[in-house]
Amino acid sequence: QTNQSWGGRFSEPTDAFVAAFTASIGFDQRLYHHDIRGSIAHATMLARVGVLTDDERDAIVEGLNDIERDIEAGNIEWSVELEDIHMNIEARLTDKIGITGKKLHTGRSRNDQIATDIRLYLRDEIDAIGSELGRLREGMIELADRHADTIMPGFTHLQTAQPVTFGHHVLAWQEMITRDHERLMDCRRRVNILPLGAAALAGTTYPIDRHVTAELLGFDRPAENSLDAVSDRDFAIEFTSFASILLMHMSRISEELVLWSSAQFDFIDLPDRFCTGSSIMPQKKNPDVPELVRGKTGRVYGHLMSLLTLMKSQPLAYNKDNQEDKEPLFDSVDTVKGCLRAFADMIPAIEPKKTSMYEAARKGFSTATDLADYLVRAGVAFRDAHEIVGTSVAYGIKQGKDLSDMTLEELRQFSSDIHEDVFDVLTLEGSVAARNHIGGTAPHQVRASAQRARDALKPA
Ligand code: ARG
Repeated sequence: QTNQSWGGRFSEPTDAFVAAFTASIGFDQRLYHHDIRGSIAHATMLARVGVLTDDERDAIVEGLNDIERDIEAGNIEWSVELEDIHMNIEARLTDKIGITGKKLHTGRSRNDQIATDIRLYLRDEIDAIGSELGRLREGMIELADRHADTIMPGFTHLQTAQPVTFGHHVLAWQEMITRDHERLMDCRRRVNILPLGAAALAGTTYPIDRHVTAELLGFDRPAENSLDAVSDRDFAIEFTSFASILLMHMSRISEELVLWSSAQFDFIDLPDRFCTGSSIMPQKKNPDVPELVRGKTGRVYGHLMSLLTLMKSQPLAYNKDNQEDKEPLFDSVDTVKGCLRAFADMIPAIEPKKTSMYEAARKGFSTATDLADYLVRAGVAFRDAHEIVGTSVAYGIKQGKDLSDMTLEELRQFSSDIHEDVFDVLTLEGSVAARNHIGGTAPHQVRASAQRARDALKPA
């Protein structure tokens, strides 16, 4: 016989290169734990409906648990001849417990088996990623709360726009990450469906009970249609979409951290433990972690594109193409976990340079809108107020003076509606405090928003 699992109808052995080319054991070995859990549930269900005896089930379960221990102890050599994780484990089981091992695959195919393994694997990873997202959000909320009063310039077009608080800026990040977290949890609902029982494509003639298997494995329900169950990988595409959007957000944040830690901005200090030096320039401290996160975004986008393209031309039901789903998915999971871990450690350790941020906000006429609003309150129409303030900014640029550095007489050249109380609104503190509504940058609002974010994090 040429292959112990399917060699019956073959008259010559597989070409050695083809065997290596078609094997997936090199990467799907990562699924061993979930493959074994799936097999144990399958055998348990088969015994429940009388397809296996209780003794057969016990032998299988014990054998599989033994194999898992062997794998974890590093006592297993994977065989390329056995193609994939499923056949490697099954062959090992038969070596251990004899003929009963060959009964495990009753009413099952590798097609529903692999679809089940990936879903079990991804569900665990989603839960691990979910808790890292929680840790990152918590770190952001704490950082924001500590800096609810720390003033920095807010930007549009990367030009100084209006003063904001650093806390407000960090809570903007927290909102992005919260939506990503919600997307992940939504994806989990569609991952948590059981394909097993679909067999190769059409179901099986044995009296299986898929509700039992679903319950044993913690799935919400069995997949409704066997053809769909074995073939679609949209759940992996969905996860990779989540990952792409998350990394896009983390890349935006990274970009800000890189800019801010430059001498030109000088807004933050990243603790040394998250940076590296240069082998030639002794003065350098490079923000490698955010740079790498920004860079790794590209590979996750690539994986999303790979999976979409992998799926797009596949007729129902299972095709071997799907074996190519694993490496992009695994690498997306690893990349997301690595980036999140680095961020969750690093973000709460960011040290804003308050004086430098404050001075930057004082430059660039960031309170010009406040002056316009002041004039509107004095009865000037907004468009006229805009014009008046524009003229005073032009004057300020010529004189090298911020609005708040001008004397009352200087300001009154532009409008007789300006009085002594104008300085209350021209200060940075006055400017941020005045934006005092839900979603605004006033320190009081930032603290309230941080509190709501903290409440949202608590398990329901
Ligand atoms: N290694 C395969 C995969 O990753 C497992 C399923 C193989 N099924 C088959 N009929 N060849 O998709």
